[in-house]
Amino acid sequence: MATEVTIEKIAQYDGQEVTIKGWIYAATGKGKLQFLRLRDGTGIIQAVAFRPELGDDLFALIKGLGQESSVIVTGKVRADHRAPGIPGGFELGISGIEVVQNVHEYPITPKEHGVEFLMDNRHLWLRSSQQWAIMRVRTTIKRAIIDFLDEQGFLNIDTPIVTPAAAEGTSTLFEVDYYGDKAYLAQTGQLYNEANIMAFGKVYCFGPTFRAEKSKTRRHLSEFWMVEPEIAYCDLDQLMELEEQFVSYIVQTVLQKRRPELALLERDLTALERIAPPFPRISYDEAIERLHAIREEETDPERKEMLAIEWGDDFGSPHETELTKQFDKPVFVYGYPTAVKAFYMEPWPGRPEVCKSVDLLAPEGYGEIIGGSERMSDPDLLMAAIERHQLPPEPYQWYIDLRRYGTVQHSGFGLGLERTVAWICGIEHIRQTSPFPRTLNRMTP
Ligand code: 4AD
Ligand code: MG
Repeated sequence: MATEVTIEKIAQYDGQEVTIKGWIYAATGKGKLQFLRLRDGTGIIQAVAFRPELGDDLFALIKGLGQESSVIVTGKVRADHRAPGIPGGFELGISGIEVVQNVHEYPITPKEHGVEFLMDNRHLWLRSSQQWAIMRVRTTIKRAIIDFLDEQGFLNIDTPIVTPAAAEGTSTLFEVDYYGDKAYLAQTGQLYNEANIMAFGKVYCFGPTFRAEKSKTRRHLSEFWMVEPEIAYCDLDQLMELEEQFVSYIVQTVLQKRRPELALLERDLTALERIAPPFPRISYDEAIERLHAIREEETDPERKEMLAIEWGDDFGSPHETELTKQFDKPVFVYGYPTAVKAFYMEPWPGRPEVCKSVDLLAPEGYGEIIGGSERMSDPDLLMAAIERHQLPPEPYQWYIDLRRYGTVQHSGFGLGLERTVAWICGIEHIRQTSPFPRTLNRMTP
């Protein structure tokens, strides 16, 4: 057998005889020629069968192979600048083939399928080139997140998934039975991060996060991944600086390492290339003024109705979309009304109805990708906030303790992996950013 190689590295083997283990993505033929689009998980290459070279029997065998047949193909790598859509411009001249399984009637054909059908067949759909590209971008984003934070001196400390208390509102809790007691799947690791920074300075957790989101939107999953950095001795401005460097690093890394995947997704690269610090910063007050002006201009009565908003309201998707259209970079909105945010946010000095929160909204209509804030550092204020939110005080005693033993100004944020993937890939619906997404109406496959 010739050297076993992956398609991703095929350029290193120009002119050599190699073996590729993979699957048939598509096939077409004409007379003495049969063209296989062969995929191996790392890429796609065109493999060409030529009847006079292979003989009638082998050629007929290749011609009879259905989509997604598993095959081990040997052949000579040759540069072919005519091969359409083949990254790097190489093809394989087939000299031998071992059929592992010949497949007939693979359910996903090149014709159009409805999204529900594709989601039902998610276990197969992942093989399709766009889904494949999205997952490759996702892994690169995960790696970039870790590399950036490690480089900046953050320690990765894990936080529990089974928790006794709510942190981000009681309406989205998934309840579990914990030996007869009530427990919840973690909505965030933040409260534990706040304990960890007092031991380690700068930390992050990065893992699965759960929200029982009872609405069907393009932005919500029930299970998603969140990275949450938390920093001791850090104020809101320093937090925004970190966030804009972090997000820019992620975007630039994907641009550097995943160009072919972004091309497959037909992503507009210029929109990503300009993502660099500084990002614009506007207050919630200014955002409301801008939204009022946008609404004034709106002529469609239905949209006008949708864009209605008063000071004190939280933004809905249409508001975020309209706001971000005014900027070509992500935009920080800081200083939200205390009433629409979680209980732990530090009040704005002299304006207790406002808190030191900051959300980062992605451009091109993608909306919130980061939520963060400076945290309350006074134990009595915190106790009062917990009561105001009608949370049971017992599970929060350890959290209040942190304010009794060496409390400091501190801040942190959470970035949603899937929303970031959706934005960077330029895809409309968040469900395609998770290999096996969990939503209100789906937990299979
Ligand atoms: O704004 P959120 O709820 O903030 C927190 O959980 C804070 N405790 C984070 C922190 O300060 N450490 O969520 C943060 C981000 C959102 O901006 C969004 O990107 C993502 O998590 N997110 C979701 N992504 C997909 N589906 C959902 N249901 C999400 N809920 C939040
Ligand atoms: Mg939020």
